[in-house]
Amino acid sequence: MIKIFTVIGARPQFIKASVVSKAIQQASSIKETILHTGQHFDKNMSDIFFNQLGIPKPSIKLNVNGGNHGQMTGRMLIEIEEALLHEKPDRVLVYGDTNSTLAGALAAAKLNIPVAHVEAGLRSFNNQMPEEINRILTDRLSDVLFCPTELAVKNLRDEGIDKTSKKVFKSGDVMQDAALFFSRELDSEISNSGDGNFVLATLHRAENTDNPKRLASLVRGLNRVHKHVSPVVLPLHPRTKKLIQKQGLSLDVDIIDPVGYFEMLNLLRRCQLVLTDSGGVQKEAFFFNKACVTMRDQTEWVELIDIGANELVGADEELLFLAAKSSLGRYVEDDDNLYGGGTAAKRIVRQLLD
Ligand code: UD1
Ligand code: UDP
Repeated sequence: MIKIFTVIGARPQFIKASVVSKAIQQASSIKETILHTGQHFDKNMSDIFFNQLGIPKPSIKLNVNGGNHGQMTGRMLIEIEEALLHEKPDRVLVYGDTNSTLAGALAAAKLNIPVAHVEAGLRSFNNQMPEEINRILTDRLSDVLFCPTELAVKNLRDEGIDKTSKKVFKSGDVMQDAALFFSRELDSEISNSGDGNFVLATLHRAENTDNPKRLASLVRGLNRVHKHVSPVVLPLHPRTKKLIQKQGLSLDVDIIDPVGYFEMLNLLRRCQLVLTDSGGVQKEAFFFNKACVTMRDQTEWVELIDIGANELVGADEELLFLAAKSSLGRYVEDDDNLYGGGTAAKRIVRQLLD
């Protein structure tokens, strides 16, 4: 029996882990223990995903959130180390690029417990993004690296990782597994799948929200899209809500609370266009044949830019407005070859068993 210890803590990690946990449950020779760091803690940022997606209840629930990056990561490190000393797993499994990812990988590596990283090899080449630092360090600390795309494999090769004892696998993207799997579940639950006359937006990344100029410009751009192009529906991340209030900005779009994954899939399915700075939502737009306008200067998902499915507009109000106008309703052809077509979780578990 292999003992896998999974560390998760933020919304996108719950979604990614849900499909891998399902595949683990089908493999009788793996026992998974889940630790939730508590990084995301509101019901609609955490519990709702465990309930909707059938993720096993975490055996260990920390309550580490807020504070500066060092504080958050350091407190997680201390508590994850204690849990690992107690559980003595064979391997630690981490996802993506959040502070929870780095803390899990670092705690394990220091105890000489092998680390497997799902969503390895992604790079924006912008060290100003906290996610980029987390990704690079987590990849360095990991023994098995599951890459979602060919480009991610190449990034690791360019960094010389193929000349080390680390194992690099192109697994495909677990977010495509989740989108396909849960869309099928949704089909049997919700009949409301008609076209919607709205643009779906999300905005939360630190490089936008923590920079007053960028945030103000994006708010103006979203307001213009809402007024002159199409109504904008925006499930507002708590981080963004706080910072918009703090800066006294007036965001005049259809703001809703963060939604569960099923509701999000339904919005993605029905919308006319996606505007986002999220990593995951850029790909989900593509999975649902929607064009995406990304409010960032760089993206890790470069292949979507290359095929014309996605466009980077930075934090430029005018570019955001023009891109939204020209891409509204544009149909984007999906291509299973880019992200693995929904087989990533099975491939990951097969390698973990090896
Ligand atoms: C984190 C990740 C980011 C990821 C995002 C997914 C890091 C460095 N960043 O950013 O890569 O894209 O999660 O959504 O790990 N808050 C609440 N309730 C919650 C969660 C957060 O009120 O349930 C508020 C808190 O005030 C907190 C702030 O949002 O201080 C930011 O949360 P934090 O987890 O630090 O970063 P995110 O912006 O969520
Ligand atoms: N998501 C969700 N509800 C929301 C906003 C996003 O379920 O209100 C999902 C979204 O569909 C995607 C994931 O959360 O699967 C992306 O997470 P987020 O944008 O928070 O983080 P990132 O991918 O940028 O790290």
